[in-house]
Amino acid sequence: MEIEPEDERILAGEFGETRQKMMEILVALGKVFGAERLVQITSAQVSGASYKTIGPYGLEWLGQLDARAVVPAVLNPIGMPRGRWQEMGVDYDFAKKQNAVIAAYERLGIRLDCTCTPYYQTSPKFGDHLAWSESSAVSYANSVIGARTNREGGPGALAAAIIGKTPCYGLHLSAHRKPQVVIDAVTDDRVFSIAHYGALGYLAGKLVGNRIPYFRNIRPDADGLKALGAAMAATGAVALYHVEGITPEACRFKFNVTGLETNVIDRGDIEQIFSRIPVDAVAVGCPHCSPGELKTAALLLSGKKVHIPFYLFTAQAVIEANKNTVELIEKSGARVYADTCMVVSPVMERYKAIMVNSGKAFAYVPGMCGAVARIGTIEECVAVATS
Ligand code: F3S
Repeated sequence: MEIEPEDERILAGEFGETRQKMMEILVALGKVFGAERLVQITSAQVSGASYKTIGPYGLEWLGQLDARAVVPAVLNPIGMPRGRWQEMGVDYDFAKKQNAVIAAYERLGIRLDCTCTPYYQTSPKFGDHLAWSESSAVSYANSVIGARTNREGGPGALAAAIIGKTPCYGLHLSAHRKPQVVIDAVTDDRVFSIAHYGALGYLAGKLVGNRIPYFRNIRPDADGLKALGAAMAATGAVALYHVEGITPEACRFKFNVTGLETNVIDRGDIEQIFSRIPVDAVAVGCPHCSPGELKTAALLLSGKKVHIPFYLFTAQAVIEANKNTVELIEKSGARVYADTCMVVSPVMERYKAIMVNSGKAFAYVPGMCGAVARIGTIEECVAVATS
């Protein structure tokens, strides 16, 4: 692997032990994956932020590091809303450890925007190289924006934030961004909601594994794309997909998909995973809610009261830019929390059955929260919580 003279000096320890360690991580990753060089990145998104997932050893490792990020870098969701953890019911001991994790990242120059939708704050551009780690954010950046990132592990993304570069392999290279399998979705004329796109992604991810799918016959908006990609990244390992006529790179491949394996997913397949089981909580915002999703929830909840806990998760910056909407939602008794989510917060482990409108949450809630999951549209979520 070609290493530039400045990077050789970092490797030799001239700029401190932490930068040396971080460069060693990047070079080791590059060698394993056959990268020919490192490439400059414009931003990083670092996972391994919830104390629930990194535990004491991760915290100890972070505490030993001494350097600062050189590109804009944000954190993945953590285990609690920073300003409202007591209200959410997070216990003091967990909060103390979670705050220690946050403090360690802050010392490293990572911004404390704890979100899986960093694209609502830092807007990467088509063709930018990134080092992002949360799977739904990676999928959105690659597929919807046309930026380029592999799915980085926590240490790889942190190393990239501190060095400002990442190994150039995989999805950083045009040759590795071609579709490998076609999915024809048969949707019909009825409403195809965000939850339906999540359910389509849930099924498609199982079907395609880690291949790059090319969808035909669907017309998702940005929130639908977000839901589709997040679910495929959860049930498969899809980090890039194309939607004919919609996503920015699809036009490059329109005439090159003939001969690829083609699968059909129809409305009946999708509706089979919707159920009517009773639930004791509702949680939406996986990935974190967009301003539009918050507005829809506010309209639906207007003049109603929730009778079971109803959580909406989003980024702090989205809350701050939509204060009136958040106030309207919270008048119903529902709660809009930043920084965390239904999967990484230990609070969600207290419920037996959770209703979500996300294919990704539907896939993860059973394993991560020990609860049964039910998927439904946002209209159905509100109806269940308020009736
Ligand atoms: Fe985001 Fe948590 Fe879902 S990190 S994508 S809301 S599992």
